[in-house]
Amino acid sequence: MSLCVGLTGGIGCGKSTVAKMFQERGACVIDTDEIAHRLTGANGRAIDAIRAAFGDRYIAEDGSMNRSRMRELVFSDELAKQRLERLLHPLILDSTQAQLRQAYPAPYVVLVVPLLFGSPDFLRLVQRVLVVDCAESRQIERVMRRSQLGEPEVRAIMARQTGRAARLRGADDVLHNDGDLSGLAGQVAALHNIYSAMSAQNGD
Ligand SMILES: Nc1ncnc2c1ncn2[C@@H]1O[C@H](COP(=O)(O)OP(=O)(O)OP(=O)(O)O)[C@@H](O)[C@H]1O
Ligand SMILES: [Mg+2]
Repeated sequence: MSLCVGLTGGIGCGKSTVAKMFQERGACVIDTDEIAHRLTGANGRAIDAIRAAFGDRYIAEDGSMNRSRMRELVFSDELAKQRLERLLHPLILDSTQAQLRQAYPAPYVVLVVPLLFGSPDFLRLVQRVLVVDCAESRQIERVMRRSQLGEPEVRAIMARQTGRAARLRGADDVLHNDGDLSGLAGQVAALHNIYSAMSAQNGD
């Protein structure tokens, strides 16, 4: 694959929405959140290691990670959060690389990594960084509408992520997601043309 674009953005900025639009245009989408979900699902590849590191308490009846219990733990315990990340990270990287090898014949890959700027291993896989951006107030409003979280909880999650200004500084391309979905789709269409041309130039 001659072009891999890293797609990132803060919580609720619109990464999944944008990824779907690229997929509909024929790009190969690799979503690291989805990979993590599968690894920690029933009989996923991370389950044995999670059981060994955290104990049976964190494995549900069906053999998947007990997500609510783990979420609670890592939210309040920084060391536990790092332990889980260290365990999952190489497995996610490994699956990502396997999917990258299968990406041909799509014209290019969109690799969705929510915390791309904190993940040098993933930054190394991409030739370009695309940030989907919106106002923080809109981010909060969208996340609250989608989940049961209140504003303080959403702000706490945002505070742990790379800030908006730093994300924009690290971007090669930006999708502005403060308007409606059709405006967003128009921006995706324009980028699709650019990425397809770049990929062809790289010698697809
Ligand atoms: N332009 C838009 N207009 C209206 N609603 C939108 C727009 N963009 C995104 N949304 C909605 O906002 C919510 C967040 O979008 P989305 O799930 O794509 O963000 P995300 O960045 O993937 O979030 P997360 O970080 O939680 O994975 C969704 O419910 C989505 O449908
Ligand atoms: Mg998402």
